[in-house]
Amino acid sequence: MAMYLVTGAAGFIGHWVARQLLEDGSEVDGVDNLNDAYDPRIKRWRLAQIEGHPRFRFMRKDITEQESLSSACAGRRYDAVFHLAARAGAPQSVARPREYIEANAIGTQNVLELCSRLDVGKLVLASTSSLYGAGNPLPLRETADTGRPRSPYAASKKAAEALAYAHHHVHGLDVTVLRYFTVYGPAGRPDMSLFRFVRWIREGEPIVLHGDGSQTRDFTYVEDVARGTTAAAAPLGFEVINLGSDAPVRLGEALRMVEESLGLKARIRHEPVHRVDVPATWAEIGKARRLLGWEPRTGLREGIDRMVRWYLDNRDWARNLVLP
Ligand SMILES: NC(=O)c1ccc[n+]([C@@H]2O[C@H](COP(=O)([O-])OP(=O)(O)OC[C@H]3O[C@@H](n4cnc5c(N)ncnc54)[C@H](O)[C@@H]3O)[C@@H](O)[C@H]2O)c1
Repeated sequence: MAMYLVTGAAGFIGHWVARQLLEDGSEVDGVDNLNDAYDPRIKRWRLAQIEGHPRFRFMRKDITEQESLSSACAGRRYDAVFHLAARAGAPQSVARPREYIEANAIGTQNVLELCSRLDVGKLVLASTSSLYGAGNPLPLRETADTGRPRSPYAASKKAAEALAYAHHHVHGLDVTVLRYFTVYGPAGRPDMSLFRFVRWIREGEPIVLHGDGSQTRDFTYVEDVARGTTAAAAPLGFEVINLGSDAPVRLGEALRMVEESLGLKARIRHEPVHRVDVPATWAEIGKARRLLGWEPRTGLREGIDRMVRWYLDNRDWARNLVLP
């Protein structure tokens, strides 16, 4: 039976990755420090979806604390490590760059060293389309320039990718870096726009829209992303691969879909675009098709319907989550 470690297992994408690995019949260890970057009640909820599973073991550990992480995992023989734990979100990183560097750069170095100690052959590292900044031609290819990160978050992920490459070069670890594009879906992050739109519109609160809604995003459904992530456990050497939808949509259009799905109209409060924001993302996904045999399957309207259904089913507590 295959055995995997998932860091960030109580996180939005990490818990979907753990769920898919368990459904595939694997054994999964999950690490998360359950921090309060956003309301941890939703992390507890996600964990509750997998914690009772007989092949899942949860370890509340901080990846910045190398010794404690390493002793928790001692003796385990992982077929691959999925490293998703991170401080995520570009706007929030402006006020707390050090926390992002610690979790995303030092934390990644610790996970790389853990792979060496445990003789793990494969690391899948979660990275981000934020690395592409604002100046590259669209659609964004993996070879595009990533030398001008627009936020401490993007810079910290650039550092993680570079540390992973160095570790691959020196120690031969097989690493696949996945650059995710605006992931959304059930039990999503309460700091991300689609989650907030659903909550605000359903609860009759005015929604905050940064800019005029003309910025485009390559929204990607979380279960598609989780499927691409588990597929990336295959040996490839060192590769960087985009996981996006290849179907960019304007934020204003996504908002209209949320309104339709809920059958309610939004009251909109406009605020300026954040300076870390980019006007457009759009993934070129030929490499994911070729190397992982991966295709996104879920269109935005269908994915929004599933996200809305999740919110309505969990509204009794989700309506009280503190939004960052
Ligand atoms: N959601 C997206 O649209 C998106 C886009 C691009 C990249 N990513 C990347 O994907 C990964 C998962 O993102 P997500 O959206 O699920 O975010 P998330 O915040 O929901 O999940 C990250 C998890 O990591 C945990 N964590 C953070 N610091 C930790 C530490 N020091 N020790 C142990 N656990 C720690 C958090 O508690 C959280 O549960 C991250 O690496 C993120 O940068 C996400």
